[in-house]
Amino acid sequence: MFRPISVLVFDSPEAACREIAAQIARLIRERSAAGLATVLGLATGNTPLPLYQELIRLHREEGLSFQPVVSFNLDEYLGLDPKHPESYRSFMRRNLFDHIDMLSENSHLPSGMLAEEEIAAHCAAYETKIVRAGGIDFQILGIGRTGHIGFNEPGTPIDSRTQSIHLDEITRQDAAPAFGGIGQVPEQAITMGCGTILEARRIALLAWGEKKADIVRDAVKGPVTDKVSASFLQTHPAASFYLDRGAASALPA
Ligand code: F6R
Repeated sequence: MFRPISVLVFDSPEAACREIAAQIARLIRERSAAGLATVLGLATGNTPLPLYQELIRLHREEGLSFQPVVSFNLDEYLGLDPKHPESYRSFMRRNLFDHIDMLSENSHLPSGMLAEEEIAAHCAAYETKIVRAGGIDFQILGIGRTGHIGFNEPGTPIDSRTQSIHLDEITRQDAAPAFGGIGQVPEQAITMGCGTILEARRIALLAWGEKKADIVRDAVKGPVTDKVSASFLQTHPAASFYLDRGAASALPA
């Protein structure tokens, strides 16, 4: 029904990230030359770290300016103060925003500090901001061991929008070391929906290491199913998987 998704396999995460960063740099420069901003969709977690290091290098050594960039992050834990070291706001500052010349008013993350009755309006406003910015030009994704993109855990429909979700137990276990124990990991988060993500014009999903190999195979080769949110990318006309050899090791040769 769908054409096979593009899968690119690299010798290392760094090699994959040099390629993705070069594409992002080209996009920013081309759009900026035409007087247009570039809208990036950004992810947190371990996976995009080498990409952010390469983008910082391009800024420092090759003069790539992020002033014409607007960004929207995929998600944020609910109940964490933005100053908490594990909040995704802190993560983005530490690993990217503090090291480039992006204007602080141009970087958007969902709020983690919302009362129950504020959540729906906040999520709707986040969607509106993305639309007003012109939609996402280039979306970066990681993949969780549950197959989630953003925090869209199994069972989330393909047309879901930005909303609050309950984190899967596996996702909370994976986050436990950073929080100093599973008891400290928030149970809920705000995440862009699968439908929101699929509206991005280009999507790059990154995955490294053998522990992601089985879920990558299910996402790329398995049925399009809400049991594996990343399988929804098979329906997207411009989504690619960027893998190292470990993450590609369960794919048929
Ligand atoms: C993070 C996000 C998640 C992560 C995924 C992989 O903003 O939305 O989908 O990309 O959980 O996490 P890492 O990269 O730590 O393996």
